[in-house]
Amino acid sequence: MSDLNRAWVRVCPIDHIPTDKAIDLNINGQRLIIARCGDEARIFQGFCSHMLFPLGGSRIEECIMTCNLHRSKFDVRDGSVVEWSTFPPLIGPALAAIRERKALRRYETRVTDGNVYVLWPTTNPETVRVRV
Ligand code: FES
Repeated sequence: MSDLNRAWVRVCPIDHIPTDKAIDLNINGQRLIIARCGDEARIFQGFCSHMLFPLGGSRIEECIMTCNLHRSKFDVRDGSVVEWSTFPPLIGPALAAIRERKALRRYETRVTDGNVYVLWPTTNPETVRVRV
């Protein structure tokens, strides 16, 4: 998609995002999360790529987010997998070997004047509904 069809949409002040947990974000009905690492904020798909558990409320430590269900870990700088779950206990390790490790889908963000913006597919940012 060309940038002619995308625009920067204001999400929230970066100070509203805690540094120790991901928070729910809804844009035009899409369930997402926003996560902070230092002075940067990133927006990702709202469900874990392991088995689709909601990621809102996931703990973040030193920019690594841990899914609350099976403890897969993701780097909130780029959504990459740091550690892939081996759940359930007996067959999990075998499953993990064949189940593709999948990074979280990331949306392009920037921080300007203390506010987080996301590059969103729209020609009119005023019409995009954002709920944090
Ligand atoms: S659903 Fe997140 S680690 Fe399994």
